[in-house]
Amino acid sequence: MVVCHCRAVSERSIRHAVEGGAADVESVGRRCGAGTVCGGCRPTIEMILTGVCPFGLTSLSGGDAVWAVS
Ligand code: FES
Repeated sequence: MVVCHCRAVSERSIRHAVEGGAADVESVGRRCGAGTVCGGCRPTIEMILTGVCPFGLTSLSGGDAVWAVS
C-alpha cells in the first residue's frame, strides 16, 4: 500500500527503512524519500515508527513488523 503519494513510497519500503535504522521521520525520508515533499504522509510514517498500524489493522510486535487483519 502506498503511504507517500508524492514519492510513491510503499508502507513496505518505509518499514524497511525503519528496520534499517531509521528512527524518525527525517531519517525515513533520507532513506526512501517518504515525507519529503508535501508532508501529508508524515503522521502515517510516525504511526509506522511507533508500531501502530496506519491502516486500522492489529500490529503484531516482535521480529519482523507484520500487520494482521483484526
Ligand atoms: S504524501 Fe508524502 S510527502 Fe506528500
